Amino acid sequence: VSRILYLNYTQTGDSAKVGERFLEPIRAAGHEIVSQHIEPVEPYPFPWGSFSNMLQVFPECHFGGGKGIKPLTVANNEPFDLVILVYQIWFLAPSIPIQDFFRSQHAELLRGKKVITICVCRDMWHAGSQKMKELLVKGGAYQIDNIAVTYQGRPTATYITVPRMLTTGKRDRVWGLPPAEIEASQYERVGMLGEAVAQKLPTHGPESREPMLTGLGAVKVYRDRVIPEVLGSRMYYDWSRLVKYGPFNRKVMIFIFMIYLPLSITCCLPFVGLGCLLILPLLIGPVERYSQKLAQPSGEKAKPTKA
Ligand SMILES: Cc1cc2nc3c(=O)[nH]c(=O)nc-3n(C[C@H](O)[C@H](O)[C@H](O)COP(=O)(O)O)c2cc1C
Repeated sequence: VSRILYLNYTQTGDSAKVGERFLEPIRAAGHEIVSQHIEPVEPYPFPWGSFSNMLQVFPECHFGGGKGIKPLTVANNEPFDLVILVYQIWFLAPSIPIQDFFRSQHAELLRGKKVITICVCRDMWHAGSQKMKELLVKGGAYQIDNIAVTYQGRPTATYITVPRMLTTGKRDRVWGLPPAEIEASQYERVGMLGEAVAQKLPTHGPESREPMLTGLGAVKVYRDRVIPEVLGSRMYYDWSRLVKYGPFNRKVMIFIFMIYLPLSITCCLPFVGLGCLLILPLLIGPVERYSQKLAQPSGEKAKPTKA
């Protein structure tokens, strides 16, 4: 029987539901699970009320972090065979409460431990998951698997449905778009991955750093979104610095960013797309190499071999 530490922060409850679905088969197999919910000292409101309210936190997602987390009830030296960390993406980075966990003394819980991460987000998990890998390496943890879970619908639909849900709390269908929910098939997939972990745990020795979910489709990398995410992440970082050190006060800088963001998406993105198309042959190799890196440690779904 393995002793597992389950760590999660949740705002809407969605990532907690994903985490619970993953844990179900593991719990059923008799493994001991110690749950710790990460709570920020100053809670983030849900629903947020407006997109402008959401934007108030983007600088801290990339620079500086939040006001810290409430103390957890497990001691840093408690023994665990595995840590399962369920987190969400805010502005292409791990959410502030999760980053604050890594800044807290509780991050010592992860030192030398095997960690399975589950990343829940609207649609864009790549950049945030790379940042999570950096946090884990810095904290001395071993990430053995990573699962990505996204909301239902095309990116163009979730750009509307998920912010609508986050600002108003409404999840129903609007303009014929799918509801702002994680699809049942995603929960089934997560349950299947939890089942695989439950089965492999007894033979996964303490020294083993091997992934347990290789070839099972724990993540799917979207090649067409690799470049926009890299550029978007850079943009958030630069603007976070500008908000902090720029010529105007924070409120004014965030207001300017609020105008800049939709303009840059509607005006610059077509040019970026065109530019990428022109130099496509030069980009294919680097994008593929980066995608392979993103897919690690679990890798994407194994392609069926021809008989
Ligand atoms: C402030 C904020 C910023 C967000 N930024 C992103 C983002 O950059 N990419 C993305 O795919 N999802 C983004 N999301 C959607 C969250 O990942 C989603 O709300 C989360 O997975 C919901 O799970 P939870 O309520 O359990 O935290 C953002 C959500 C919030 C609140």
